[in-house]
Amino acid sequence: MVKTIEWTADGVVMIDQTKLPAEEAYVTCRDHLEVADAIRTMVIRGAPAIGCAAAMGVAIGVLKASDEELDAEFDEICEILASTRPTAVNLFWAIERMRKLYCGLRKQGAGLDLIRQRLVSEAQQVLVEDIASNQALGKHGASLLPSGGTVMTHCNAGALATGGYGTALGVIRAAVDRGNALDVLANETRPFMQGARLTVWELQQDDIPVTLLTDNMAGHMMQRGCVQAVVVGADRIAANGDVANKIGTYSVAVLAKESGIPFYVAAPTSTVDLGLASGEEIPIEERAPEEVTQVQGLQIAPHETRVCNPAFDVTPSRFVTAIITENGVAVPPYGGALRALVVEGASGRDET
Ligand code: MRU
Repeated sequence: MVKTIEWTADGVVMIDQTKLPAEEAYVTCRDHLEVADAIRTMVIRGAPAIGCAAAMGVAIGVLKASDEELDAEFDEICEILASTRPTAVNLFWAIERMRKLYCGLRKQGAGLDLIRQRLVSEAQQVLVEDIASNQALGKHGASLLPSGGTVMTHCNAGALATGGYGTALGVIRAAVDRGNALDVLANETRPFMQGARLTVWELQQDDIPVTLLTDNMAGHMMQRGCVQAVVVGADRIAANGDVANKIGTYSVAVLAKESGIPFYVAAPTSTVDLGLASGEEIPIEERAPEEVTQVQGLQIAPHETRVCNPAFDVTPSRFVTAIITENGVAVPPYGGALRALVVEGASGRDET
């Protein structure tokens, strides 16, 4: 399985997702500023992967911070990492997890060496837990998929978007591991092309059959009976089950409903934001216009073209057939079901 991110003696090593599939290159971030930059420029992307990077960013920042100004520097490190991308809640979840540990240790009067050591271990633990969550949610979701049919996915919610294994692609992987001969339709996912560049590459590494579509082909394929289920990841899920995910997900969900095709969302509970009542409150990142006016550096629209580039959209929960988490599967109405999976965790488990 591809290693998305790793803590090493040299720094935080990430596969450079801006270069795939042309080149398998790795970037080493030696301080929190380089980690922040990698998140902002999408060297690393995907909600859970961003969470892992943020945790490691805090840890490496604290390793490099001065003893005298540690508290002030800790706050600054967290602020810088939190300002990178606004939509994926895993980023903030991971920073808060690191902050809680730091503050607790400071309160106990722990020595600075121990604090640094514990933060590094915690960041590594975030990665380990993310992979375990994806494997667990994969098991829960696998039985929901059709036997031997075709599953559509949007963006990249695979090993590359997480600590490893993937969420939406984790569900597909788990089904394939059980002997389900699935076919995957990957939407290219304009403008950043996560589907074409990353999902296709990742599935090919695992020999899972995949066919690439441009985004505007999704409705046609559904209408023709070529899709039996849709499974996507999420960047933030509000308490009512509304789902923010990569731009274009909403259109796919509406088309799926119109076509009578189940639409599944797979995400770890670290992606659920019970603090937001509905998807209307989810901040949507607006990215640079060049992502739309250019393809791989080639200008495809007139210069000075006015551009709209929201990186995510919100799919209202009424379009979502089920939300698959590591603690089990939530079905509508989502309010109570999601809360139980997040708050009660293991006790809300559905052992499918
Ligand atoms: O802008 P990106 O590439 O970070 O967006 C990624 C997505 O929207 C994914 O579908 C989502 O983060 C889920 S990843 C398991």
